[in-house]
Amino acid sequence: MSNAVNTAEAAAPTGGPEPILRARRLVKTFGRVVGLDGVSMELYPGEVLAVIGDNGAGKSTLIKCLTGAEIPDEGEMFLDGQQVHFKRPQDAREAGIETVYQTLAVSPALDVASNLFLGREERKKGILGSVFRVVDKKGMREKAKQNLSALGISTLQDVTVAVENLSGGQRQAVAVARAAAFGSKVVVLDEPTAALGVRETNQVLDLIRRLRDNGTAVIVISHNMPNVFDIADRIHIQRLGKRAATITPQSHSMTDAVAIMTGAAQA
Ligand SMILES: Nc1ncnc2c1ncn2[C@@H]1O[C@H](COP(=O)(O)OP(=O)(O)O)[C@@H](O)[C@H]1O
Ligand SMILES: [Mg+2]
Repeated sequence: MSNAVNTAEAAAPTGGPEPILRARRLVKTFGRVVGLDGVSMELYPGEVLAVIGDNGAGKSTLIKCLTGAEIPDEGEMFLDGQQVHFKRPQDAREAGIETVYQTLAVSPALDVASNLFLGREERKKGILGSVFRVVDKKGMREKAKQNLSALGISTLQDVTVAVENLSGGQRQAVAVARAAAFGSKVVVLDEPTAALGVRETNQVLDLIRRLRDNGTAVIVISHNMPNVFDIADRIHIQRLGKRAATITPQSHSMTDAVAIMTGAAQA
């Protein structure tokens, strides 16, 4: 049985592309509580990386450091090979890392198109847009349609519908489409299917696959082991603030993954 560090590295593609996103030995403490205890992580282009671990294992803290919501005390992060120092979520977003949080990240009263462009509304061309700040609704609706159909979200063709009238799965689809809509390099989803039924969960999983197939690297936190094994190319296992292992659905079973998560087994 190899040790966890060796396994973590063995699971990475060798001689292949460089990681699109890499974390090296991140440390994050909250007073006396150690959230992250020297965590490294690699995300490769065109993959879905699942992050699993028991409650308190450091999953959210890791994701928050990667997306600018927390600033690590120590360690380094690289996006596309360039070192990055995110001070706030906006920094990560501008660099091409979009996050979909656990809570359904949409504004219910707004329509689908407006949700897709929330916070970055496109202005009309010329003086109308630059001086009078007139929002280009028609243009945004057109683009919203293109985005949704590129992601295969066919049930959402009417982008003028208020999001409050959509099902939970459709809302989550809007949140994911929003994250994917701006040529993001990396999309991070924290428990994207926690609030959804089986059919809607499958729709969101399909959406994540399509996102990946369109060239976006995806990190997804999930407690649902069958979902994780269904969708992930690789699985990063957090335990007690550390990376216990990185495995693949081919190299390990769900039982193995749970054993590593709980400390019953080493990788
Ligand atoms: N803002 C915070 N203040 C104090 N402790 C925190 C804070 N955020 C996380 N922690 C602690 O850090 C550890 C890791 O938490 P977290 O990353 O949320 O774990 P997970 O998402 O895997 O459940 C836990 O012990 C948690 O209580
Ligand atoms: Mg969490």
